[in-house]
Amino acid sequence: MKKDIAYLHGKKREGQPITVLTCYDYPTACLQDEAGIDIVFVGDSVGTNILGYKSETEVTMVDMLHHLRAVRRGVTDAYLLVDMPYAADRDVKQAVTNAKLFLSDGADGVKLEGGIEKVPIVTALTEQDIEVCAHIGHNPQIHGSKAATHGKTFAKAKRLIEAAAALADAGAKLIVLEKITEEVSQIITETVDIPTIGIGAGRYCDGQVLVINDVLGIGPLFKHARRYQDYDHLTFEAISQYIYDVENGEFPRDDNVVHIAPDKLARVQKWLKSER
Ligand code: KIV
Repeated sequence: MKKDIAYLHGKKREGQPITVLTCYDYPTACLQDEAGIDIVFVGDSVGTNILGYKSETEVTMVDMLHHLRAVRRGVTDAYLLVDMPYAADRDVKQAVTNAKLFLSDGADGVKLEGGIEKVPIVTALTEQDIEVCAHIGHNPQIHGSKAATHGKTFAKAKRLIEAAAALADAGAKLIVLEKITEEVSQIITETVDIPTIGIGAGRYCDGQVLVINDVLGIGPLFKHARRYQDYDHLTFEAISQYIYDVENGEFPRDDNVVHIAPDKLARVQKWLKSER
């Protein structure tokens, strides 16, 4: 069953957690979809997690479209969300143009970072029937990769709660809460009608998102995340074993090769001799 925005809103109403993972490639998209994830999310974290960039601000529309198309080929049922990269939504016109490029390459919705200042863009995209996911709290494109927790003072909590309400009123269909105190995330979740998706935002959001690398054990472990596999270690072991096997004549073995029939080989050898 194709999961659309109505399905995701239904989950919020029924108190069923919404599951979200970032995804950057076709095989992982196939697995996430088959496992039943609700939202497959092509995040701009592709830059630091896959492309070797130092910062999310290096990610371009070309990068995002390339990875979106790969992921699209692997997704059948999940809602497919894509990130607007840095400076790709500087004004309403640019945001609408870029969001339409994402939709024509198969995205179901577009996420953009920023607080109340993004209300005009969310309004404009909504007027074009483009489903928007807002993203408040820690915004890597704005704050950099060093993530401090937001919502620890009265003024900051108030600003986050007001931003979430304004973005929802402007038409956002989902909102990511990143690195926000659990209590403030809970207040936002209870006061907006749209599903909140938390990352480092505690237990009371309507859903959770993690970066797939953190789930698989690629790279360092963060406090907000949980490892479900030791990819780095297992992959290093596999590569080292392959090197050992090739260097020691253990790979390939007879069962990895294809032979020519003896009579045909004999003909080849006879011909070779006659040529010399
Ligand atoms: O790009 C990203 O990984 C994000 C996180 C919120 C998951 O935006």
